[in-house]
Amino acid sequence: MVTDPFQLFDEWFAEARATEPNDPGAMALATADAAGDPSVRMVLLKGHGPEGFVFYTNDESEKGRQLKENPRAALLFHWKSLRRQVRIEGAVERVSDEQAGAYFASRSRDSQLGAWASDQSRPLESRDVFEARYEEMKRRFDGQDVPRPPHWGGYRVVPQRIEFWSDRPHRLHERRLFTREGRAWREGLLYP
Ligand SMILES: Cc1cc2nc3c(=O)[nH]c(=O)nc-3n(C[C@H](O)[C@H](O)[C@H](O)COP(=O)(O)O)c2cc1C
Repeated sequence: MVTDPFQLFDEWFAEARATEPNDPGAMALATADAAGDPSVRMVLLKGHGPEGFVFYTNDESEKGRQLKENPRAALLFHWKSLRRQVRIEGAVERVSDEQAGAYFASRSRDSQLGAWASDQSRPLESRDVFEARYEEMKRRFDGQDVPRPPHWGGYRVVPQRIEFWSDRPHRLHERRLFTREGRAWREGLLYP
């Protein structure tokens, strides 16, 4: 029986990679503003380990604004093909500029230009305006590497709780909850 939540996550994630039709790293990210009003959207997992679960986005987006006001988040993976979910909750910190820069540099040029062209979460007059901005960025960075926009970066959810849920017959589902206690993890079960 695995008692390290990160090892268990790795095992489940490897299985999800083999069975999910697409995006096994897709996760729902829940944030809330200073007043406690919640919102949730999907993002892609781009790195994980004991130090946390990393995704990348625009700092000036709705989620970026909420994380600035209230740097806490919850993540949810639902792997339908496995009938499993993983819930992660904790504080959020920004990844270093070096790490964000390295990841940005690994993305396709189209995605890099898209990050410059998109004022993520702000109103857009028309699709044409967006496409024109994209073309403008193509011209702006023609013949050179596309640098990481200063408003684009990575966030790490540092888990305080990780729960592994798996489907069992007769709705007797299994819930294994790991709670951080200093540097160690305490494991327990929850009623389904
Ligand atoms: C499967 C999937 C993966 C996504 N991955 C990301 C991502 O990694 N980063 C991101 O900024 N938006 C991603 N999006 C778009 C977000 O769901 C969302 O539309 C966008 O980030 C704006 O959210 P906000 O207005 O709450 O900030 C993804 C959407 C889907 C459906």
